[in-house]
Amino acid sequence: MQIVILKDAAAVAEYGAQIFIDQINRKQDSVLGLATGSTPVALYQELIKANQANKVSFKQVTSFNLDEYLGLDGDHPQSYRYFMNEQLFNHVDIDKSNTFVPPGDAQNPITACKMYENKISQSGGVDVQLLGIGRNGHIGFNEPSSSLASRTRVKTLTKETVEDNARFFAEGEFQPHLSITMGIGTILEAKKVVLLATGENKADAVRDMCEGAVSAVCPASALQFHQDAVIVIDEAAASKL
Ligand code: GLP
Repeated sequence: MQIVILKDAAAVAEYGAQIFIDQINRKQDSVLGLATGSTPVALYQELIKANQANKVSFKQVTSFNLDEYLGLDGDHPQSYRYFMNEQLFNHVDIDKSNTFVPPGDAQNPITACKMYENKISQSGGVDVQLLGIGRNGHIGFNEPSSSLASRTRVKTLTKETVEDNARFFAEGEFQPHLSITMGIGTILEAKKVVLLATGENKADAVRDMCEGAVSAVCPASALQFHQDAVIVIDEAAASKL
């Protein structure tokens, strides 16, 4: 694990974005693993700026998102497909037919999970996977107790994660408690992993991930097994290391 501690969230976004820009410029048809949540938004803004300044092109890029709420279709404003369109895809020269997000409206989610895994394999596998981290150490929607060898599957969200993400839903609005998420085993197969964390509320999770025992109690701790995992954090998120 390489741990990069930077002053603030803006520096984290710039550093993380540069890894993706370098990757794509080395290999135009890179396969990217992408993430949602508030943390990667600033990184996506950096990618949009770089694309508009012709410093990187997404024309040949393929992307796979980590996860999606089960029960929301891609037009739902709280779906992760919608988020990706709004935060990145609509603003860069990517071919949207090469962007994949697990289908939240799948008729048969179990089959859909298998198909998602197959599609990742057929693409040649993820070159660089972007990750955030939940306060409880989750990555994607792999909540504590997830098998460290898990594959893409349906996962129930913990009460804590539902509460953390409630801020994105209007009061009284249906908020899914189920998701489809790449498994920890799936994530570990990416050639490189870049995890971003900012803010003091992530400090416990960052400490457990980097310095704790490798355990399903903190799913992100599985990254200790990865050969090329870069943890990019600000001083606040690093405060308990
Ligand atoms: C959600 C996503 C995760 C993300 C986490 C943290 O649960 N499924 O991929 O890492 O939120 O989000 P935030 O960056 O908003 O703290």
